[in-house]
Amino acid sequence: MEKITAGGLRMDRLGLGTFRLQGEACRAAVAQALALGYRHIDTAEMYANEAEIGAAVAASGITRDDLHVTSKVWWEHLTPDGIRRACEASLRALRLDHLDLYLIHWPAPGMDLPAALETMVRLRDEGLTRAIGVSNFPTALLREAVETVRAPIVCNQIEYHVLLDQSAVLTYAREKGLFVTAYCPLAQGRLAEHPTLAEIAKKHGATPAQVALKWLLDQPAIAVIPKAGRRESQAANLAAWNITLDDDDRARIKALPKTQRCVNPPFAPKWD
Ligand SMILES: NC(=O)c1ccc[n+]([C@@H]2O[C@H](COP(=O)([O-])OP(=O)(O)OC[C@H]3O[C@@H](n4cnc5c(N)ncnc54)[C@H](OP(=O)(O)O)[C@@H]3O)[C@@H](O)[C@H]2O)c1
Repeated sequence: MEKITAGGLRMDRLGLGTFRLQGEACRAAVAQALALGYRHIDTAEMYANEAEIGAAVAASGITRDDLHVTSKVWWEHLTPDGIRRACEASLRALRLDHLDLYLIHWPAPGMDLPAALETMVRLRDEGLTRAIGVSNFPTALLREAVETVRAPIVCNQIEYHVLLDQSAVLTYAREKGLFVTAYCPLAQGRLAEHPTLAEIAKKHGATPAQVALKWLLDQPAIAVIPKAGRRESQAANLAAWNITLDDDDRARIKALPKTQRCVNPPFAPKWD
């Protein structure tokens, strides 16, 4: 598996998303993914599944250094005390003594960004997480975090797939040496049925979902975290690495309309 290295991290570029996986279904899906070879798990306090992920990880016997776990603090908890409490609760639920990557899940309207980032840095310096980052930060806010606050963040986790243009924030992140983690890489499953991707997939003896994932994996400084509960989907997503897209495929994907945002809650920032 190809890795991303940044700020002391060395993580698989393809991980398992876990939003909407809960309870026993979550524990079983994560155990199955670990058995298939996944070593990068994405969760958040908001997903209410960290205890089940912790149980699956503990039972797997996988060495801590071989595993990457990302978690996130919810936007309503972004005071210094709130962030620390959330981080400690995530660690307890996950049965871990440190996270690999801890993210601000969403910017909060009117938040004190310097204070929040300063707390994140402190958690990192105390060893509660190996690295810190943000999520759902459009370019202007990312610039503020990097250039004004000068926070040592390594990543921005954002929605990114073949139907959404993210070139502004991607260009800025790359310029500053940050990586981007693409969430909803399958547009919440919709891309598994997409007609253009289906035509490209047929040519390669692959599936539309695999084409969507390989298009992302072919781009530099991108990690990808498809959520899959079913074993077949988990295995198929790992096998996306084996497809080779050609110039014609890339041109057809480039020509798709890129305005479809799947995640846009009322508290979202003003997007690029
Ligand atoms: N930072 C944020 O604000 C944020 C927001 C949203 C998501 N995320 C993270 O990103 C992860 C991924 O996003 P997402 O879960 O919203 O959407 P997604 O990964 O784009 O799509 C997930 C859906 O695709 C289906 N699927 C997966 N692999 C497939 C395959 N090979 N063939 C056909 N269908 C397939 C899954 O079905 P089955 O489960 O039935 O297999 C599921 O219904 C989340 O789980 C979460 O970890 C972060």
